[in-house]
Amino acid sequence: MAQQGKRADMIVHQRDPYNAEPPRAALAGEVLTAVTDFYSRNHGPVPQIDPGAWRLRVDGQVQQKLDLSLADLRARFAPRTLIATLQCAGNRRAGLIRVRDIPGEAPWGPGATSTARWTGVSLADVLAAAGLQPGGGGDQHVEFAASDVSADAEPPQPYGSSVSAAKAMAGEVLLAWAMNGQPLTPLHGAPVRVVVPGYIGARSVKWVHRVTVRSGPSDSYFQAVAYRLLPADTDPRAAVRGEGFALAAVAVNADILQPDDGATLRAGRTEVTGYAYAGDDRGIRRVDVSLDDGSSWRQAGLGEEVSPWAWRHWRIGVDLAAGPARITVRAWDSSAAVQPQSAAELWNPRGYVNNSWASINVTVLP
Ligand code: MTE
Repeated sequence: MAQQGKRADMIVHQRDPYNAEPPRAALAGEVLTAVTDFYSRNHGPVPQIDPGAWRLRVDGQVQQKLDLSLADLRARFAPRTLIATLQCAGNRRAGLIRVRDIPGEAPWGPGATSTARWTGVSLADVLAAAGLQPGGGGDQHVEFAASDVSADAEPPQPYGSSVSAAKAMAGEVLLAWAMNGQPLTPLHGAPVRVVVPGYIGARSVKWVHRVTVRSGPSDSYFQAVAYRLLPADTDPRAAVRGEGFALAAVAVNADILQPDDGATLRAGRTEVTGYAYAGDDRGIRRVDVSLDDGSSWRQAGLGEEVSPWAWRHWRIGVDLAAGPARITVRAWDSSAAVQPQSAAELWNPRGYVNNSWASINVTVLP
């Protein structure tokens, strides 16, 4: 049954708070993901905010504090639209769980990532209007506070996060009110969310109501404890604030969208499609596909680069003989980084950033 305005066949990891990803095939085809198909990751109940009553406070290390309504944002700043992929740090966690269990974390498949056309204003313009003052110590951050209160956090607290002032001022970070030309839905952060292109989805704070320029990263649980990469032998329950390192730019990653994992196919020519994405200033340069677990590779055709901040779809025709087959993909980015082979070497206690080679198993009938 359809929930939260999403397609009926969403893979729902949790109903309350709602956490769901689309099936692989839903992400194939168009580069933009329909709002009905877009994954959704929530740490608390979805707030219902009256757009007319919403305010954004801008404060901290600024010359002039701002208190902006949605109408002010629209009137005072130039609109910006860009296409960007969001990718949750937990995308493809299921592959890490197959190596070793990760208690308490959802087994996301390859669908905790989606791409939309976002419209709003540039955060850099708003911070410039507030007169952002360069902070001392070179570790200035811009913190985003939201209105949803998460019981996942210790102690329970509103969602929050930060990015470096350099990223915040880079121009591409948006305070967005529309997704694919439609006003944001409550589930995706209405009336206004942050979109941080190139960074893990956790930094794209939904239901934002306060932007604070400060020294050092946010003290929020979601910056100081969660979304940090811990060494494999750390007990995450015993990890102290600031342990490990905070995740920011998305590592090169790819997965297969068609055929489906476990599909039964006819022998002969099969079209294999998927996505590949590398965050921040990196782009996808090559996608390799193997039918022999990586002994040999062929290059897939890359779809158009619609935006420096978006994934690229790829496709390749392969000839499959009758019997079981495994199809494997890996992508290379513009820094020549390639996906690592095994999930075992990436395993980490909270199950983030599984960017190991992706495979599907299919049965091929004569
Ligand atoms: N913002 C708030 N306020 N609360 C949240 O739980 N989840 C974050 C981020 N922003 C979250 C949030 C995470 S972990 C991800 S991956 C993205 O939102 C998911 O955005 P989406 O639900 O629009 O797909």
